[in-house]
Parts: sequence; C-alpha cells; structure tokens
Amino acid sequence: METTYDNSSLKLKKEFPEAEDFLPLNGTDYVELYVANAKQAAHFYQAAFGFQPLAYSGLETGVKDRSSYVLVQDKIRIVLTSPLTKGGPINEHIDKHGDGIKNVALWVDDAAKSYEETTKRGAESTFAPKTIEDENGKAVLSAIRTYGETNHIFVERSAYDGPFLPGYTTWNPEYKPASVGLKYIDHMVGNVGWNEMNKWVEFYAKVMGFAQLISFDDKDISTDYTALMSKVMTNGNGRIKFPINEPAEGKKKSQIEEYIDFYNGAGVQHVALATDNIIETVTQMTERGVEFLRVPDVYYADVLDRVGKIDEDLEPLKKLGILIDRDDEGYLLQIFTKPVGDRPTLFFEIIQRKGATSFGKGNFKALFEAIEREQESRGTL
Ligand SMILES: [Fe+2]
Repeated sequence: METTYDNSSLKLKKEFPEAEDFLPLNGTDYVELYVANAKQAAHFYQAAFGFQPLAYSGLETGVKDRSSYVLVQDKIRIVLTSPLTKGGPINEHIDKHGDGIKNVALWVDDAAKSYEETTKRGAESTFAPKTIEDENGKAVLSAIRTYGETNHIFVERSAYDGPFLPGYTTWNPEYKPASVGLKYIDHMVGNVGWNEMNKWVEFYAKVMGFAQLISFDDKDISTDYTALMSKVMTNGNGRIKFPINEPAEGKKKSQIEEYIDFYNGAGVQHVALATDNIIETVTQMTERGVEFLRVPDVYYADVLDRVGKIDEDLEPLKKLGILIDRDDEGYLLQIFTKPVGDRPTLFFEIIQRKGATSFGKGNFKALFEAIEREQESRGTL
C-alpha cells in the first residue's frame, strides 16, 4: 500500500502493515473540548495559539443548550463547547473533569461502516450513525467510547461543503491574530489508570485495527522519584498516533497520577502540534503569553554531544527552552506547555520533526524533573 496523503509537511516515511486498518482513518477531523466558558477559551486559543475563527453554533443558530466555537490552523481543527443551561451532561463533564477533551473526531469515508466494524469488535457505542444536513449538504456521524469519558466520533463529510458541519454558521469576527505556524496534530496522548495501559492498547489494536509502534517501561521513563509506562499505537497510514500512559510505582506521585486525580479518571493528557519552524512558532507563542516548561540551562551544555549536529543554532533553542532528541532516522525539536487550565491536566506539545519518527525519549528524564519541580510547587509530588 502506498502513502497517498498529499500533505508534504507530513513526510510520512513509514507504514505499518501489521495494522489491520479496517476502518480506515484518513486523519484527525477535529478535537472538541468541553470548557466552562467557550467564548473566552476561543479568545485564548486565537490570541495565544494563533488559531483562526471558522464556525459557530449556539442560540443565534437555533441551538438552545450549548454554544460551540470552531477554530482552525492549517489542518488542525478544535471545537470549544460550553453549556447554556444547568445540570446537563456537559455541565457534569466540566464539574468532574474541568476543561478537557471530550471528543477526538476521526475523518472516515464511511461513518456507518466504521461504527459497525468497531462495535462488532467490542467497542461501546456513544451514538449510532446519524445523518445531519443543512443547505450546504449532509454529513454522517457515529461515535464510540474510548478511555475515561472520552469518545471517538467518526466523521464522514464527503457530501458536505459548509464551513464545518451541518448546523454551524461561519464565524467571522473582527479579531483575527495571525497564525503561529502550527500545521497538524502529530500525536495525542492518553493517560489511563493503574494497570489499564494494556487494556487500551488492546482496544486500539483489536477494535480500531491499530499497530503498536513503541513501548517504554518504567526504566525508560523514570527519575529518582516518579515513573510511568507508555505504549504508542498507530493506525496503518501513520496519520493517527495515540501513545497511552499509565503510572508506575515510584518514590513519589507521578505526573500521571496527578493528572488522574485532578481529571478524576482517564483522559487526553497532551496534544502534540507540528510546526515547520519551531523557533518562530515558540517565539510567537511565548510573546503571546503561553507558558512553557523549562529545563535547567545545563541541559544545553552537552546536548549536542548526545544528538550530534543540527541545522539550528543552539542559542535560540536554549533561550526558548526547546529540547532536542535524535533517533535512527533523524532528529526532532520539541517543547511542552504548562497545563492550559487551572487543573494540572491538559497541556500541549509543539514539535518539529527533522526526520525523526520517535517521541523524544532522550528528553524524558530532564522533562520529568522539570514537571516534578512544578508538582512540588503545587504540593502534589
Ligand atoms: Fe508527546
């Protein structure tokens, strides 16, 4: 099978024939967050992350119980949804989890078949296939549950030509800060509870037809104090990569446990967003108020001994706190935001791949020590 995806920035080198890939998935369609104040969250993702306004639904479009703002940056679409009334399922979700990712929507050619194939293999249904339409055409949606209270929505949109999905109107406010150069979702990581990683790895393998790419155990990912384990699942064309983390026994509380405590269960821990120019992207985001995790300057004293020659000057990377790692196929540059809300749960990674297809294993220790310092200040280590 040949890669036919036309996104040159993606540069997919690998395919994963061991993935059954019976759906198949074309890519991530959108990520929907349930948040307490979607209007203000939209301003944050516009101003700080450079997302562009795309579509809206709410009272003005005849929706009575929620408002949703859709933002876009190149191939990344996020939806921010807040309840308009009391006591409903969105309110309950926010009460329990805080702001967080509720739906990871996947773009498919046939949402009914995707639903049938996954539920047949044991997926729990969120909702059966339904056709929604407006004057711009129709789309078919179906959904299954994944870890925690998170869903995968299958989106079939070939017969739809509107701004986002039926029911949404174009959202075109005056305020449009420039993009920061984010291109596509590189991977999306789930945190699950003690001894649950293999259950969800099996879910992605059996129910979704994914293959396992890499496994990290607590020897790879541990500091003097905290530990975690991780396995990375990919679909057949490599466009969807879902690492799954579980806590491991350490001397102190790991960041995964802290997440599970504050999120009250499993959920999406971070979304990695790719850029072609991480120095420019992170400079912009820093100026716009995004806070990033910092490693000590000493990290940069010997990093080039570890990773070898890179195209970039070290100085701007050091100034911004960007981390570097190398694998057999090349190197990568990455940096992690602090949690984007008040609860220490969801955060973002910014990543630029220069050939490397891995996830920055060489940075885990420095990074987790930086996270431990943050946990210490929160009293949750
Ligand atoms: Fe990551």
